[in-house]
Amino acid sequence: MIDPKTVPMFRLGDGGSIPCIGMGTFGSDRVSPDEVAGAVAGGIRAGYRLFDCAACYGNEEQIGKVFREAFDEGVVKREDLFIMTKVWNDMHREVEKSCLKSIEDLQCDYLDMLFIHWPFPNYHAPFCDVNSRNPDSRPFSVEEFLDTYRQIEALVDKGLVKHIGISNMTIPKLNAVIDQLRIQPAACESEMHPCFQQQDILDYLVSHDILPIGYMPLGSPRRPERDIEPDDIADMQMPELQEIAKAHSVHPAIICLKWALARGVLPIPFSVHNYEANLKAAVTEKLTDEEMAVIAALERGNRLVKGQVFLWEGAKDWHDLWDEDGVIVDCTDC
Ligand SMILES: NC(=O)c1ccc[n+]([C@@H]2O[C@H](COP(=O)([O-])OP(=O)(O)OC[C@H]3O[C@@H](n4cnc5c(N)ncnc54)[C@H](OP(=O)(O)O)[C@@H]3O)[C@@H](O)[C@H]2O)c1
Repeated sequence: MIDPKTVPMFRLGDGGSIPCIGMGTFGSDRVSPDEVAGAVAGGIRAGYRLFDCAACYGNEEQIGKVFREAFDEGVVKREDLFIMTKVWNDMHREVEKSCLKSIEDLQCDYLDMLFIHWPFPNYHAPFCDVNSRNPDSRPFSVEEFLDTYRQIEALVDKGLVKHIGISNMTIPKLNAVIDQLRIQPAACESEMHPCFQQQDILDYLVSHDILPIGYMPLGSPRRPERDIEPDDIADMQMPELQEIAKAHSVHPAIICLKWALARGVLPIPFSVHNYEANLKAAVTEKLTDEEMAVIAALERGNRLVKGQVFLWEGAKDWHDLWDEDGVIVDCTDC
């Protein structure tokens, strides 16, 4: 057990604070909802206070039972936890309904942070194949995004949500909306691991006082089949990372987490077997400047969540989702 009081906190731009590391809860279509909930139960008792959930992970009911037990047994109080969840793409026009369902399933009375999971309403079914396409999918629209965001702002006004989060954004999309938000986003979740560092979006977020949260911080070795391609690099198998891990007598996973923390990114690793060691990464020795420089050089542009299943008719390929030329691809109203 790690005393949660010893886990450093990050400051949020909209006031308040958040533990510097959280537990992910996406079973990647491989770990069952009950197993994920079991890890959350263990995680609370190991000292985790931040949990990254999502409606589309299909396990909020099971996790909610675990929260309820922890409250009833006096292990933690509701206010000790920072519970985050996300509106899935098929609920962008019914955000309050989605929020109330998550609150009910998670048995948590209110949400500490509610994210827009993806910036467009393109839905894919759980367990779908990489070639699956939804005919209703469409490109990013500023007005549609703002409409979804305003629904979360209204939930903040009602006291159901404390902070607003965004996710899977690009700099052009952020630029298109940022000045039109009444309540600034507190955090943004993006894929970030040593071989996919996203320094540009990290710098953008920091300069706008938005906390960067890094998902897949270990390079997600057991990610869903649809997100695996032959050329993908396994971050934790990079020899440089393994050497640093050896010097610290820890698994390379721990080095990925220490690296994230040192660059001001809040990591949310998922684990059924190693969650205590991951939390410990936040309270043990930091990496040296030399080690940080070695990891900085591991950037390989190794995006793992390419997002093919979100493509709209007429899109060229998954690169269109990420606005790589600095303009929002096929934006309908920019
Ligand atoms: N906003 C978004 O669109 C989005 C997208 C993807 C993910 N996420 C969030 O990010 C979280 C993390 O991503 P992820 O689960 O895909 O990938 P990840 O955290 O990078 O990797 C998880 C995998 O690493 C293994 N692992 C964890 N700690 C380890 C350790 N100390 N030593 C060895 N192996 C270790 C786990 O296996 P064991 O269980 O055996 O430890 C698990 O298979 C998700 O759970 C989800 O909450 C958000």
